[in-house]
Amino acid sequence: MEQTLSIIKPDAAAKNVIGKIIDRFESNNLKIAAIKKLKLSEEDAGKFYAVHKERPFFKDLVKFMTSGAVVVMVLEGENAVAKNRELMGATNPKEAKKGTIRADFAESIDANAVHGSDSLENAAIEIAFFFSKRELA
Ligand code: CMP
Repeated sequence: MEQTLSIIKPDAAAKNVIGKIIDRFESNNLKIAAIKKLKLSEEDAGKFYAVHKERPFFKDLVKFMTSGAVVVMVLEGENAVAKNRELMGATNPKEAKKGTIRADFAESIDANAVHGSDSLENAAIEIAFFFSKRELA
């Protein structure tokens, strides 16, 4: 069993498709082990995406991720990291396979509906960023 972090981003939350996205996970044998809706501060978003600090899109990324509420979740299941990324589709929705979350709900590489951890190692770091031990019990 693996755990991974998923974020439903402000564009998808504003579009009222939180439930539809969660259904993709549940219908594909991923369990919601923990979940909450919140608004990221600039500091939160900057810290969470610190690996992208030097990238040209960093400022826009922080601006977008703080523009509205997000839903953060821990998904649990067999091969959860890879399965979540498969369900999400490519980062750029224009390149995402048909039937993936980004192909169906995302507009652009910035407003791309969801985030998912890219490795088991980063999943543990990202989960600890948002959830306490008590919330994961
Ligand atoms: P996410 O998986 O949340 O990780 C970083 C985010 O930066 C990514 O999804 C995109 O929404 C955003 N982004 C914007 N431009 C780019 C780019 N050129 N390459 C990768 N990510 C980008």
